[in-house]
Amino acid sequence: MPDIDLEIHLTDADLAAGLRADARAGLTATPKQLPPKYFYDARGSELFEEITRLPEYYPTRAEREILAARAATIARVTGAKTLVELGSGSSEKTRLLLDALREHGTLGSFTPLDVSESALRGALTDLRREYPDLHLHGIVADFVHSLDVIPEAGTRLVAFLGGTIGNFTPAERAPFLAALRSQLSPGEFLLLGADLVKSPAVLVPAYDDRAGVTAEFNRNVLHVLNRELTAHFDPTLFAHVAVWDETNEWIEMRLRALAPMEVAVRALDLTVTFAEGEELRTEVSAKFRREGLTAELAAAGFAVRDWWTDEADRFALTLAAAV
Ligand code: AVJ
Repeated sequence: MPDIDLEIHLTDADLAAGLRADARAGLTATPKQLPPKYFYDARGSELFEEITRLPEYYPTRAEREILAARAATIARVTGAKTLVELGSGSSEKTRLLLDALREHGTLGSFTPLDVSESALRGALTDLRREYPDLHLHGIVADFVHSLDVIPEAGTRLVAFLGGTIGNFTPAERAPFLAALRSQLSPGEFLLLGADLVKSPAVLVPAYDDRAGVTAEFNRNVLHVLNRELTAHFDPTLFAHVAVWDETNEWIEMRLRALAPMEVAVRALDLTVTFAEGEELRTEVSAKFRREGLTAELAAAGFAVRDWWTDEADRFALTLAAAV
């Protein structure tokens, strides 16, 4: 079997430098904050997989339901030769798309893009066995900064699934979508998964489950800082908080200091002070409405062709063409 074809645009040194810069900026800001991408070390990725199986966390199941129902249509409409997946992780739901595109007969290659080289290698090793005829070309890159690495090869379908678009604030979404559009030619496609605005009675438990898995996932970012930056956070002294921000229509995850603390972050030569009750924002997970997202896509140069939801109207999958 051919070697795994992996293009590396982001080294461990780049990742480490990014973490140092983000941690310094975020931990010295008011209010304190950290970008959510640092949740996903090996342990964090495992915890996220566990989250996707929780009874309260509906987005993964809802998106899979839509993909299962619409994959054949997506294959027929796009006739894609290359499937690109941004932030692919384990590429689990992607198999529904790969199978439909293979069935349709147009697909030649799959290009998953992820920041984690080990996750990509793992996914590609499995895919190589399941799709022996497919050209697999993994790209280790940060999709926020490296969209220009998406290879040109026939009609491309770029999948950005899971609702990860929600990790951007509106101010970050516009340039991201515009940059993505600028990498595509008219007639190429974006398949975007987005979680929808709904009752906080459903949203909040999805981010604050009874079993406490999301709380552990949230605190895991402190273990990442301890290991990567020789920091001295005591994760047991931080409470998991999930709040629905009605104005911004996003869920915010935070870590609340249960006691006043001074935390040394050796690699940054920094001591971070927390007052009792002070919160560190660790994630924004924006929820969408059809009109708003369609307008944002239009502003970036995408025409929404289809808007599909699950039976319960919790999650949307939208197929948009570059115009
Ligand atoms: C992977 C960003 C889509 O926002 O729902 C799950 C991450 N955070 N539970 C989301 C997450 C807490 C997830 N995304």
